[in-house]
Amino acid sequence: MKIAILPGDGIGQEIMVEAEKVLDALRRDGMKIETERAVIGGTAYDQSGDPLPDATLKLAQQADAILFGAVGGTQYDALPRDKRPERAILRMRKELDLFANLRPATVFPELAAASSLKPEIVAGLDLMILRELTSDIYFGQPRGIKTEGGERVGFNTMLYKESEIRRIGRVGFEIARKRGRKLCSVDKMNVLETTQLWRDVMVELAKDYPDVELTHILVDNCAMQLVRNPKQFDVLVTGNMFGDILSDEASMLTGSIGMLPSASLDAKNKGLYEPIHGSAPDIAGKGVANPLAMILSLAMMLRYTFGQAEAAGRVEGAVRKVLAQGLRTGDIQQPGMRLVGTKEMGGAVVAGL
Ligand code: IPM
Ligand code: MG
Repeated sequence: MKIAILPGDGIGQEIMVEAEKVLDALRRDGMKIETERAVIGGTAYDQSGDPLPDATLKLAQQADAILFGAVGGTQYDALPRDKRPERAILRMRKELDLFANLRPATVFPELAAASSLKPEIVAGLDLMILRELTSDIYFGQPRGIKTEGGERVGFNTMLYKESEIRRIGRVGFEIARKRGRKLCSVDKMNVLETTQLWRDVMVELAKDYPDVELTHILVDNCAMQLVRNPKQFDVLVTGNMFGDILSDEASMLTGSIGMLPSASLDAKNKGLYEPIHGSAPDIAGKGVANPLAMILSLAMMLRYTFGQAEAAGRVEGAVRKVLAQGLRTGDIQQPGMRLVGTKEMGGAVVAGL
């Protein structure tokens, strides 16, 4: 298993160290894991003027999987778009064709009270958001800001080819098959032609998956249903833009964005694994960040790219154990629990393993 380790910026660097400790522990148990580190994002820009240096891209291309921390920082906000840290992650998704983005929103029983919704609405929630990641308005051409009739006009293009819809749709049906057999496709077909095509293709695909129940929902209604009754959903499949927004919303159902991992897969299950949260410049360097989303991303990597479900389950089990022991970082702190920092939390997971 060759893993590229890309810590990135801010708390990405601190939480990655804890994931590496978990990798070391798995190695001691006999797993053949090879790792190599590289810089990305603002850190790479500071060193070389490029947020995604060729050497980093090459390493990512050669590795079987990529463990990614987070990128970004307020000091980079004024840079031109192609130099910004975010550009590195967008390019990586496109270059490696990582089109299937899995964003689970799972509520750990120990943390149900940490959600801003009533515990009975979220307790037991186990939702998978599948977001298309390499097309849509994020990448559509033409795009830009021009001057027309004496004023500035900004424009982007929302665009999906049917082949792109079909391949993400298939992943959606396959995932639903392994879970509750319910797939809900999110679109805005009452207004947007792109998403009319999206819906049509989903309906065509459904014929190949008679064992999965396919439903459709408009994106605005979906945003509302996610806070009204999120447990009605099993797997949601949607485009890049809607998926960006809905997955942030869904993450908060679970109480802390610091708990949620994600996977971005290509057609052969090669993947980039990263926490859903960002680089959190406000707490970076203080040793207080929650490393659990990073560690759970590693567990997803074992499961989806390497087919090591048992090892993945062990890592997830170790996380459950430290939560049951009452250890909490600041973002998930509850009365009566023991407040710990990044290192102690990571160390406890390794001990739990
Ligand atoms: C995400 C992020 C990215 C996105 C940004 C950092 C480019 O919000 O992964 O959800 O919009 O896809
Ligand atoms: Mg986002």
